[in-house]
Amino acid sequence: MADPTSLDILTFGPAGETERRRDVVGLLRDCPIPEGELLMNLGLFLTPQTLSRVLFMDFLYRQGLEMQGAVMEFGCRWGQNSSLFCALRGVYEPFNRLRKVVAFDTFAGFPSVRPEDGEQMKTGAYATTEGYEAYLDRVLAHQEQESPLSHLRKYEIVKGDVIATVPEYLQKHPETVISLAYFDLDLYEPTLACLQAIRGHITRGTVLGFDEANDPATPGETVAIREALGLDRYALRRYRYNARTSYLVIE
Ligand SMILES: C[S@@+](CC[C@H](N)C(=O)[O-])C[C@H]1O[C@@H](n2cnc3c(N)ncnc32)[C@H](O)[C@@H]1O
Repeated sequence: MADPTSLDILTFGPAGETERRRDVVGLLRDCPIPEGELLMNLGLFLTPQTLSRVLFMDFLYRQGLEMQGAVMEFGCRWGQNSSLFCALRGVYEPFNRLRKVVAFDTFAGFPSVRPEDGEQMKTGAYATTEGYEAYLDRVLAHQEQESPLSHLRKYEIVKGDVIATVPEYLQKHPETVISLAYFDLDLYEPTLACLQAIRGHITRGTVLGFDEANDPATPGETVAIREALGLDRYALRRYRYNARTSYLVIE
């Protein structure tokens, strides 16, 4: 089993941030709030950075609200975004039974890296703890129970390398139209493969979100966007409250 304290991830914060965050984690673990009130008070622990990402997911979700289709996350890792998408469905369109949320990941980190990915990406980075997908499944099942139509399963977790699993999923579900796809694979090859695989399943108005475009730490994502879509064909907009994330709307 991967040691949860040593999972390989990149951080960009200033000196002292790690210690400060550790203090907050300590406060969370030692939280004196009674169990029955804990979930209602999770905002206590959101920092400006983590809150801005939640706000971005809300913004993206709203961009795709008028579009028919499913929401997909390529590279969900611990699954926070996919869980947020399920919660946002409950907020904005609780009766939209066709707004399926599909979360893809190896749950074992990067299967491989290529020269296009630069120096900092390492095979095996961003793993989860072993069997994490079963835990995520329980979390998403609970999310589903919080909204109407909870008897209809509206999420799916797909484990494995997206280079194989995304085409397989789309073949198995030929009805799939995608309203929103969030790319957080960090790497050139799987990002390119997903962009190519979903091509026949997006429409005018489909929203594509990107976690790492224009980031020198993860050059492969931009190269994949450039090769699959062409950078001059779409306005790659940024969400003003979050530095790294961006999105485009298929026109
Ligand atoms: C930065 S993490 C994603 C973080 C997550 N979206 C979040 O917001 O917390 C990148 C993820 O991409 C996944 N990944 C990278 N290449 C992949 C591939 N070929 N197939 C499936 N997952 C892959 C990794 O396993 C890792 O979980």
